Amino acid sequence: MLTPVILSGGAGTRLWPVSREAHPKPFMQLADGQSLLQKTLRRVAVLPRVQRVLTLTNREYFFRTRDEYARIKEARHLSFDYVLEPVGRNTAPAIAMAALRLQALEGPEAVMLVLPADHLINDQARFARAVDLAAEQAREGRLVTFGIRPSYPETGFGYIETSEDLVLAGVEDAASSNTRSASCTVRRFVEKPDFMTATAYLESGRHLWNSGMFCFTAGAYLEALQLHAPAVHEGAVACWEASALEQQPLELNPACFASIPDISVDYAVMEQATDVAVVPGDFGWSDIGSWSAVSELTEADGDGNRVDCETVLVDASNCFIRGNDRLVAAVGVENLVIVDTPDALLVANRDRTQDVKKVVEQLKLLD
Ligand code: GDD
Ligand code: MG
Repeated sequence: MLTPVILSGGAGTRLWPVSREAHPKPFMQLADGQSLLQKTLRRVAVLPRVQRVLTLTNREYFFRTRDEYARIKEARHLSFDYVLEPVGRNTAPAIAMAALRLQALEGPEAVMLVLPADHLINDQARFARAVDLAAEQAREGRLVTFGIRPSYPETGFGYIETSEDLVLAGVEDAASSNTRSASCTVRRFVEKPDFMTATAYLESGRHLWNSGMFCFTAGAYLEALQLHAPAVHEGAVACWEASALEQQPLELNPACFASIPDISVDYAVMEQATDVAVVPGDFGWSDIGSWSAVSELTEADGDGNRVDCETVLVDASNCFIRGNDRLVAAVGVENLVIVDTPDALLVANRDRTQDVKKVVEQLKLLD
């Protein structure tokens, strides 16, 4: 058995003004009318040997999440388990609570497939094969990541340095369905390097992007957390013991949970751990973590413009425009991201979309 753990608690601040605390990124709808969260659930519901899905999210999003799940017919056979966070403390504590929950239900050998709720995957069959391979490695006690062949020096991702040049050969193996031979050991994991470092990694041929999806047993994660981030482990166990465990959805004790250090799994565990394996993720992965990534989902016209709404463009090139109900006109501009919503408008340089989160930081200061 394998239990998908869907993480959907982040606010996705780089996709402001569409993604906000009141309407976070997993609920963002794509052109086909399905949200990212629904796509994530569907992706795991059709995997073999999945009976239960565990969702970690903020308690504010519980009813909305449950309603969105209810509309996915491929998931009707599943049982749904929820752990609700009173506040966001980032992914290391969230995954710790998931591990404690699964350990209580199935024991420390429970295999968890941790999935962010804000990714797109094109090739379901290859995804299923990669998950199989990862689960096999996880059962041996390893922490497994899914590595993506990098295509540009993204500074918003983690990078995985593999032990051999096998990496790129491994990616090819996965493409030819021979995933059994395609996992390898991680030499080093570096979260969000600066631009120069990311460029060097891209050129090395030995680095993969961390997809942000992980596979391990509950016991292996908790052990690694205890070793590398003892304060998070201690806080999570204390919060577990202080929470009302018999109720479902399980609501975490607010005071205890809020006192756990705010840190991501990448910094807390993956950068420090030694027994990490990577499975090549050649399944058409895209993290639509920024407007520049979202823009890639829309086809470009002859001038490189990608538009999702009614527009009038005069001498505009290489722009992404997503609108609402009103017309957007642009004259003599290039390389812009324009996102219009009823109460906020974003205009950004296409090369600076990672910095949109700084708008949200400034707005918080004004609150
Ligand atoms: N439940 C819960 N609680 N979920 C959370 C929380 C939290 O406090 N914080 C973040 N998440 C969810 C987000 O909704 C998202 O689905 C996922 O966890 C990852 O968080 P992000 O904030 O999007 O991380 P990131 O994009 O900066 O970096 C991660 O993903 C990259 C690839 O997309 C890292 O794993 C990188 O190494 C990786 O390259
Ligand atoms: Mg992300």
